[in-house]
Order: sequence, then structure tokens, then C-alpha cells
Amino acid sequence: MENNNQTGVTVWFTGLSCAGKTTLSFAIAEELQSLNYTVEILDSTIVRQNIGKSLGFNKADRDENIRRISFLAHLLTRNRVIVLVSAISPYNQIRCEAKKRIGNFIEVYVNAPLEICEARDKKGLYQLARAKKIKEFTGIDLPYEAPLNPDVECRTDLETVAESKEKVILKMVNLGYLKPRNFSHSSAYFFDI
Ligand code: ADX
Repeated sequence: MENNNQTGVTVWFTGLSCAGKTTLSFAIAEELQSLNYTVEILDSTIVRQNIGKSLGFNKADRDENIRRISFLAHLLTRNRVIVLVSAISPYNQIRCEAKKRIGNFIEVYVNAPLEICEARDKKGLYQLARAKKIKEFTGIDLPYEAPLNPDVECRTDLETVAESKEKVILKMVNLGYLKPRNFSHSSAYFFDI
């Protein structure tokens, strides 16, 4: 697929575990790929399994994990790829660093209240964290620093995946990363490259 007409950008999904980052990023990837955009997903769990096996969840290791992800995102973005990063990335400072390094950057705060994230957790990690069987768990014994000024906020407890997806895609259109074809009064849109 030719992607010479495409501008690279990293869309960075940050939020608590089970907030919906992966679901949302996959839904957006599917839609963009169906329109022939070149998209890469950098899901933190997968990145850790490949180039972060020795990293844990203390602040230093998380920062290192985010630096590795932002390095990859930077390389892809400058080569015109639309990169969808999904990582808890709980610390403001390292997210700012990633933004500076990457340049074309959209921060999406995937927000759901902690109790909703806990209720969604099929792997039972929150329960283990509450029982102190897992340490350094975001939202339980380590903080999550919400973005101060996100480009998009998706309330995944109040919006459908389709609604959240539309908000992100609309922002990408408005910032010039996706080409609009048509906007209807219902805010539905159609676009291609
Ligand atoms: S980050 O802080 O480095 O961005 P990351 O997104 O990789 O965190 O976390 C990926 C997944 O690891 C979480 O969604 C969760 O399922 C799992 N996990 C295991 N241990 C922890 C922990 N201590 N804190 C948060 N997530 C954890």
C-alpha cells in the first residue's frame, strides 16, 4: 500500500488498566486500515513481552518502558505511519517527554473510574493488588497522574466504543492527519486518503 499521502502521527492512549485503551486502539486501527491508512499498534504489554522482559512496574522501569515505546513510535511516525500507542503510562513527565520526542502527537485520556476498571478486570489483577499479592499496581498502591490537558478524553464508562472512536477520529481529522470527505449534521463523517 502506498502511503505517501499520509502524515505520520502517534495517538497515545493513556489510562488505568482496564480503562479500554486496547479496545479503543484496535477499533480505530480497524477503521483506518479499512480505509487503507498504514497503521501500527504499539501495545505496551506486547512491547514488554518483546523488548522489555526485564522491566517491572516500579517508576524507573515504567519510565524506561515508555522511553522504548516512544523511540519506536518516533521512528514510525517520521516514516508516515499512524501509530496507536496503548500504555497505562501513568506519569505526566514521561508522557510529555514522549510528546516532545515524537512531535506529531495526540494524547487521548481513556478515562473510567477506578471502581469500573476493577469491575471489568477479568484477569483479577486488581483483586490481587487489593490483597497485596501484586505490588506497584496503578490506581491501588501507585498513582495514576491524569493528563492535564489531553487532546481527547474518552469516558469509556459513559460512551460506547463507537462514540469514543468517533471522538478520536474527529480530532485526527481536525488536526489534519486524516482527510475528511464529508461531514454530516449528525457528526458522522466519511474520509479517505
Ligand atoms: S506502563 O505503566 O508501563 O505503561 P503497562 O501499560 O505496560 O504499564 O501495563 C500493562 C499491563 O500489565 C496492565 O494493563 C496490567 O494488566 C498488567 N500489570 C501487571 N502488573 C501491573 C502493575 N503492577 N501495575 C499495572 N499494571 C500491571
